[in-house]
Amino acid sequence: MSEDYNPVSMDKLVSLCKRRGLIFQSSEIYGGINGFWDYGPYGVALRRAVEQLWWRHMVEDRENVEGLDSTIICHPRVWEASGHLEQFSDAMVDCRQCKKRYRLDQLDNPDLCPDCGAGEMTAPREFNLMMKTFVGPVFDEDHAAYLRAETCQPIFVNYELVRNASRQKLPFGIAQIGKAFRNEINPRFFTFRSREFVQMEMEFFCRDDEAMQWYDYWREQRWRFYTELLGVPADRLRIQDHENLAHYARAALDIEFAFPFGWGEIEGVHHRGTWDLTRHEEYSGRDMRYLDQESGERFHPTVVETSCGLDRICLMLLANGYAEDLAETKKAGKQEDVRVVLRLPPRVAPVQAAVLPLSRKLAVPARALFDQIRRRLRVEYDETGSIGKRYRRQDEIGTPYCITYDFDSENDHSVTIRHRDRMSQERVAVSRVAAWLEEKITG
Ligand code: GAP
Repeated sequence: MSEDYNPVSMDKLVSLCKRRGLIFQSSEIYGGINGFWDYGPYGVALRRAVEQLWWRHMVEDRENVEGLDSTIICHPRVWEASGHLEQFSDAMVDCRQCKKRYRLDQLDNPDLCPDCGAGEMTAPREFNLMMKTFVGPVFDEDHAAYLRAETCQPIFVNYELVRNASRQKLPFGIAQIGKAFRNEINPRFFTFRSREFVQMEMEFFCRDDEAMQWYDYWREQRWRFYTELLGVPADRLRIQDHENLAHYARAALDIEFAFPFGWGEIEGVHHRGTWDLTRHEEYSGRDMRYLDQESGERFHPTVVETSCGLDRICLMLLANGYAEDLAETKKAGKQEDVRVVLRLPPRVAPVQAAVLPLSRKLAVPARALFDQIRRRLRVEYDETGSIGKRYRRQDEIGTPYCITYDFDSENDHSVTIRHRDRMSQERVAVSRVAAWLEEKITG
């Protein structure tokens, strides 16, 4: 990892996210609910932008990947077939003294409570992570249902319907973005391990003898997504190949980011064999085989999956982008000041440009410029407070460009554009601002 990387403390990041309306603890006025997070105005803009970038890259830019948007609650048999009801569990232990509960695999010493230091822990017990609810007016086991624990199972369940409707032939993929729910024992590290989160998954169906080639292809595509499209430095990312594979899988890897709390998984690329389709065939009684029209051959396609968490990607971008720069300040008696800046990739920044008139007297032409560029980009207009304070506010939400409309603009029909990262400024003709921004942001 490069030496100039000083990860921000999680406390600072959480506090910036709250102050600037990126992410809040859910139900905060009631004391919060552990493992659930709400996205404020700038957080939702960031999350949507990342989601749209993923959708464009994985679905719209490809002829062989189709989209799906399924329900969160599926038939309970789906989760029997997938193995979640039986196996989706973590071993946990409780401290007999302070009653705290831990995941066994997260304890260095399973006999010692890391919180109160007592040496009285219970024997490990399995704890299922599926969130349960009831469908209909009767709350008994016959009416039990589950919130989906991953978005990919409805893809397998709908695989034949999607394939028929889209007339796809192997190889092809089906992608879905949506909420997933896991009753995590220890939600932690801000949004990193939440109980409700968004997954972006793509299941790629192919012939078995081509599966490893596709696995390598998707590994490379997903690495490019982070390093090229999101501009995350390659030395803050790593790929970890799994050593212990499920019996049906031939390969699996995690893409990890160097979070302030250590390396953490943001995405998995998995060879899933024919496990899911054959299990759903067994449990539903439906033939899930693919029919090759040319050879007349019928077989179960092999699946290569790419599976990432949208909240973890946003957290990565926030941690990667957070910096405290020593900035000169003109205030008397104060030589230096710390500038907090979020260096978010311009294409996903919640606000891509801010229009800031130097004086309220310039509101009319400044607003006209704002109206012109907001059609194409995410733009904010702000005329309150000193220009310095307005710059700082935009720095803290990661706005890459601030456009100042000043009194000279009336004569030279130009504005000053300030760059977030270097704080350099340049003069650009009003008529060129929209194209200039688009070229810098998406070009
Ligand atoms: N279909 C495969 C699957 O769900 P996973 O490794 O369990 O695989 C995939 O999850 C991705 O979902 C992870 O890489 C992570 O980004 C995200 N994810 C999983 N659990 C999460 C949680 N509790 N909070 C936030 N994101 C989570």
